[in-house]
Amino acid sequence: MNMKFNSICLAAVLLWTLGGCNNASNKSAATGDSTTVSSTKLPDSTGFKKTVKGKAVSLFVLKNKNGVEAAITNYGGRLVSLLVPDHKNEFKDVVLGYDSLGSYQKKGEPYFGALIGRYGNRIAKGKFALDGKTYQLQINDGTNTLHGGFDGFFAQVWDAKKINDQTLELSFLSKDNEAGYPGNLQVKVIYNLTDDNSLKISYEATTDKNTVLNLTNHAYFNLNGAGDETILDHLLTIDADGYTPVDSTLIPTGKIDPVAGTPFDFSKATLIGARIDAANQQLTFGKGYDHNYVLRKGMGLRKVATVVSTKTGIAMDVLTEEPGLQFYSGNFLTGKDHDGKGGVSYPHRSAFCLETQHFPDSPNQASFPSTELKPGQTYKTNTIYKFYVQK
Ligand code: GLA
Repeated sequence: MNMKFNSICLAAVLLWTLGGCNNASNKSAATGDSTTVSSTKLPDSTGFKKTVKGKAVSLFVLKNKNGVEAAITNYGGRLVSLLVPDHKNEFKDVVLGYDSLGSYQKKGEPYFGALIGRYGNRIAKGKFALDGKTYQLQINDGTNTLHGGFDGFFAQVWDAKKINDQTLELSFLSKDNEAGYPGNLQVKVIYNLTDDNSLKISYEATTDKNTVLNLTNHAYFNLNGAGDETILDHLLTIDADGYTPVDSTLIPTGKIDPVAGTPFDFSKATLIGARIDAANQQLTFGKGYDHNYVLRKGMGLRKVATVVSTKTGIAMDVLTEEPGLQFYSGNFLTGKDHDGKGGVSYPHRSAFCLETQHFPDSPNQASFPSTELKPGQTYKTNTIYKFYVQK
């Protein structure tokens, strides 16, 4: 590291008391360029006001009595920002995202904050059979379908209704054969920011033909503040004894393997970074963690995971009714783009996702819990991300 670079980094540290010198992909503050410092303001809503596919897109803000705020756009039902207090009672934005709609629409955008459907995670070769008929979906991830396909819910404009200051209702009609899935599917998702600093996401859907469905949200969290360079210093606990190992294309083999004695064991609070680079074929396939945990069974909504930032004290519990949880350690983030909120870049492994879900590729895996939805049934599931400070 040369002297000039050293002094630029020193200036950046003095300015913001945050490091960044060891991250070549992020330019320093002194250059006035993009940095790793997180933004603590909500994006300006004008960056989201646009008409897409003939429908109005906007940014909606929810706020609770503690000053916690969530900004959500009806483009893809995306959680754009979430401001929660840290151990100094300063607000930090804990989700990755962009300041304007254009970035959410770019090719290869990593599903930041999106509502995912019809099918969260992968379906092998984009094919499945239902009632003797084979359906072909859009192939958008190597040889597989990921997160619904190119026309997944993350890229659709939802109808939005602000119910009150703390509640946003989004609905969407996914037409028969859209992205290859059977049945007209009417979906409703409610984001509710409660006074105990929880973001509750309630999903509901009905269909007029037998179909498959696996809805989730793809928020990328960094409890140090979005834009901080890593989540490897976060402590993670997942209430699971097993996970579903994958092949090299990240399709489950169909087995459920015990986590005990492997880098996948988070049954006790463990740093995400402690074993992420261990010699382990599953970690090689995922380029880190990108695996579905088989959650311990419980009645209804139960706590399944906790994450704590050792830097800010911000803690998050995940509660869900779902049988699975995809733990993804942001392995495909590159830090190359500089259009993160406030002009920051998001480096490799600078966020984690905990996507509550049914298991990947369930329509092709007879031993996994079923993801079929039939006419007359109502799909209903709730997930909660609850925030507090752990001192
Ligand atoms: C999911 C997948 C990952 C990756 C991300 C988005 O978590 O399991 O492999 O595709 O979405 O980049």
